[in-house]
Amino acid sequence: MPELSKGAHKIYGEAAFEVLAKAQELERKGKHIIHFEIGEPDMETPKNIAEAGIKAILNKKTHYTPSVGILELRKAVQDEVEKTRGYRPDLEQIVITPGLKPGIFFSMLATVNPGDEVIYQDPGYPTYGSVSSFLGAKGVLIPLLEENEFRMNPDDVKKRITKKTKLIIVNSPQNPTGSVMTKKELDEIAMLAEEHDIFVVSDEIYSKMTYESKHFSATAIDEAKERTVLLDGFSKYFAMTGWRLGFMVAPKKMAQRLQDFLVSAVSCTAAFTQWAGVEALTGDQSFISEMMKRFKEKRDRIVNGLNIIPGFSCLSPRGAFYAFPNIKKTGMNSQECADHLLYNADVATLPGTAFGPFGEGYIRFSYANTLKNIDVAIEKIKESF
Ligand SMILES: Cc1ncc(COP(=O)(O)O)c(C=O)c1O
Repeated sequence: MPELSKGAHKIYGEAAFEVLAKAQELERKGKHIIHFEIGEPDMETPKNIAEAGIKAILNKKTHYTPSVGILELRKAVQDEVEKTRGYRPDLEQIVITPGLKPGIFFSMLATVNPGDEVIYQDPGYPTYGSVSSFLGAKGVLIPLLEENEFRMNPDDVKKRITKKTKLIIVNSPQNPTGSVMTKKELDEIAMLAEEHDIFVVSDEIYSKMTYESKHFSATAIDEAKERTVLLDGFSKYFAMTGWRLGFMVAPKKMAQRLQDFLVSAVSCTAAFTQWAGVEALTGDQSFISEMMKRFKEKRDRIVNGLNIIPGFSCLSPRGAFYAFPNIKKTGMNSQECADHLLYNADVATLPGTAFGPFGEGYIRFSYANTLKNIDVAIEKIKESF
């Protein structure tokens, strides 16, 4: 085979899918594994949304759409951003994407050159590092510390800004720690970006998934007009991971380029998925508060449970559906601990290091599972030590 591109060797995948494969191998051998590795809600897409998608297919919404998305959905996004972020973007700023992930990829392709520096959270969502590496950029990690409840500290960001810094990626509510940044912290990062002429990509896929804290956006001051890009999507809070639907709000000139990335890569997002998205944003949304009520119960159950396991200590996450216990006192490292849980307690989790070097000493539980399974898992973990 001829030599693959340099980029092909630099891009990398996600540990969650590797652990899932290991767990499924054990299941084939007759083991009963309790799954906490995959980051998706354990609920089905609400009926009104599913029906809107089906109706769209039957009504022949099965053709190409404009690459930026159907007008109805872009208008719904415009209203949504006004309601939830406090500013009303122009329609030309709004681009519909097949899931949030392409939004990360395209906004990084549109802003980062080889040799640039990209600042992002560690532990953090692996895609930022993967795409940064693919682009030949240098990843500059901001350690998220337990002492700071895993929130990104603007002072740490400030210290790491150089002339080469091109982009800061912010994710709040955060994967894998469940931390939620304050308005003050997010505004400070936006102001640093303005001062140093840097782009900000704000990944807000868990925006409607907070418990005690409110969600704020790093794009609020700039209104996504000059340098900030808002990324959000339907995957998590509408339980629509498989539909593949997200949106970007970007400065107009950038949105035009993003449109061409979309044309070149996927042409457009699936038509019927977009129509389901219109129903999600404009129809009954009681599903979300119901789901969050259940997630809060699960959060409290798993955090209490983890805190009674010798060697474990766990902060209560403020958002998303991830618990990120400190396991340093078990004497194992993250990988050893995750393997121990899989092979000795039949519990699948992810090592904190799957999210970067500063995840060492922690493991991630995606607690999108039943209360009963959470209880059984805690018992099995306790017995395994
Ligand atoms: C922080 C973060 N961003 C983006 C995504 C991907 O979202 P989507 O499935 O809509 O592409 C995830 C999924 O786990 C995530 O945790």
